[in-house]
Amino acid sequence: MNLKWEDKEKIKNSIEDLDIISLQDVELVSSPINDKILEKPELPPQISGKEWKNLLVWGDNTKILKVLLKNLTNKINLIYIDPPFATGGEFNYKIQIGEGKTSKQSKHWIRKIAYSDSWSSGLNSYLSFIYEKLLLMKELLSETGSIYVHLDWHIGHYIKVIMDEIFGIENFRNEIIWAYPAASVQTKRFYVRSFDIILFYTKSDNYTFNDDPNIYMEYSDRVKTALKKDDKGLYYHRGGSHNGKKLSQKVYVKNNGVFPRDVWNDIPYVRANTKEYQGFATQKPERLLKRIILASSTENDLIADFFCGSGTTLAVAEKLGRRWIGCDITKQAINICKKRLLDICNSNDLYNWKNKYSKNVRPFKILEIMTQEKQFILPIEFLSKNSEIKENSEFSQAPNLKINIKKQDMKVTISLKDYTIPYVNFISEKIRENILNWADWIDSWSIDFNYNGKIFNNKWISYRTPKKRELSLVASFIYDKPREYQILVKVIDILGFETIQNYGLKII
Ligand SMILES: C[S@@+](CC[C@H](N)C(=O)[O-])C[C@H]1O[C@@H](n2cnc3c(N)ncnc32)[C@H](O)[C@@H]1O
Repeated sequence: MNLKWEDKEKIKNSIEDLDIISLQDVELVSSPINDKILEKPELPPQISGKEWKNLLVWGDNTKILKVLLKNLTNKINLIYIDPPFATGGEFNYKIQIGEGKTSKQSKHWIRKIAYSDSWSSGLNSYLSFIYEKLLLMKELLSETGSIYVHLDWHIGHYIKVIMDEIFGIENFRNEIIWAYPAASVQTKRFYVRSFDIILFYTKSDNYTFNDDPNIYMEYSDRVKTALKKDDKGLYYHRGGSHNGKKLSQKVYVKNNGVFPRDVWNDIPYVRANTKEYQGFATQKPERLLKRIILASSTENDLIADFFCGSGTTLAVAEKLGRRWIGCDITKQAINICKKRLLDICNSNDLYNWKNKYSKNVRPFKILEIMTQEKQFILPIEFLSKNSEIKENSEFSQAPNLKINIKKQDMKVTISLKDYTIPYVNFISEKIRENILNWADWIDSWSIDFNYNGKIFNNKWISYRTPKKRELSLVASFIYDKPREYQILVKVIDILGFETIQNYGLKII
């Protein structure tokens, strides 16, 4: 029996309507070359060739899904989504200011609403929102593909019925319970809620599912006390007998744990003091995605997360050698993902958590939905209480960026000299009082030393992460051919505003 609600039929009919928008390549991001002088500039990237590039797309995923259908119908091997849960709440990410050197700076994280999770007409509008996207995702999923939908008690039961309808009840595989230790919640009128659910469906009965020892769950404490662990961390017991005599040789157990059941209570949520933490309130643990991706895909498969948030799925897919596509509707999430991926070499290795991953990210592209005009909208939580400016005011005047370019033979040195925000008095006092220096406004800046007029080829970048707060204000580059070049400098500030400036340079 299918679920019925007001706008359902309207949504079903509208998904046929594909020619709505197009996507624009805005940036090519390669592994960072911070503070290094390149011997040779790299060739302009091949952006329209056959070679696959992973994609980070900014915009509403319904529109993006429709665009992707043109080329990727039945091509995505695994989809994981962690959509808003219809909690009626708002989710935060934290912005950190400057180098965090003074006690004021290090303490002051401003909570910024990354996305709003409240639905104007309640359940009807939420169901329409998610139904349309799930219908489109089914079209993108390959015949052997799987989809995992991360939800909780708010809406999970409704979505289960919708998933049965779209993917077929026969393709339901598991309702995974991700049980995490309960935070200190104050409730005495009902039980403390401490799990999320993940609905796992496949497109058909012929689907990828790997019995990989790296997805196994640890032995229970009862089993662990009966076993011993050697220096390499492998479990064994002493056993066997000969002529009625007990032997004492080590008998190793085959795996270092048990094949996972559907209750996952071995994965903690992301804590603020970990390397993994991105300051994003709904960030999911990499270990959760590791189990899903290893079980339901193979190397080089295409993985997609259409609500990618801080980019957990993308980072894990990257580390496990899968191709990936991520989308998010907020620019802040896209910026967090970009920095997280650029810094992936310093993140935890998925097979040996205490070690660093130590590899650079493979080149990926940032895309956005084509729009005519870009205006910066300053969200309310960034505004001064005394300000006359109203919530969501549009700002047409760009910040002022001062750059110094020094040329010496074939070498160019670019220094960031100043950054001023035209509407500074309207910005919240809480932010302003923590700005000690103009550079504290800046979250990242990057340079394309040889702009091709089409896509920003990110060849140098300096950025702050939750743990690494310093920003380098000088960059150098050596050209190998005398000619005229276009240099593009892009600055992203802590409020999320992006400024791009173009400079001509003649190398003789
Ligand atoms: C629960 S968070 C995802 C968190 C993510 N799993 C992580 O580990 O960081 C949901 C994300 O969906 C995004 N989102 C909400 N509506 C969207 C839409 N229509 N299109 C694209 N992204 C959307 C929000 O901006 C938010 O970042």
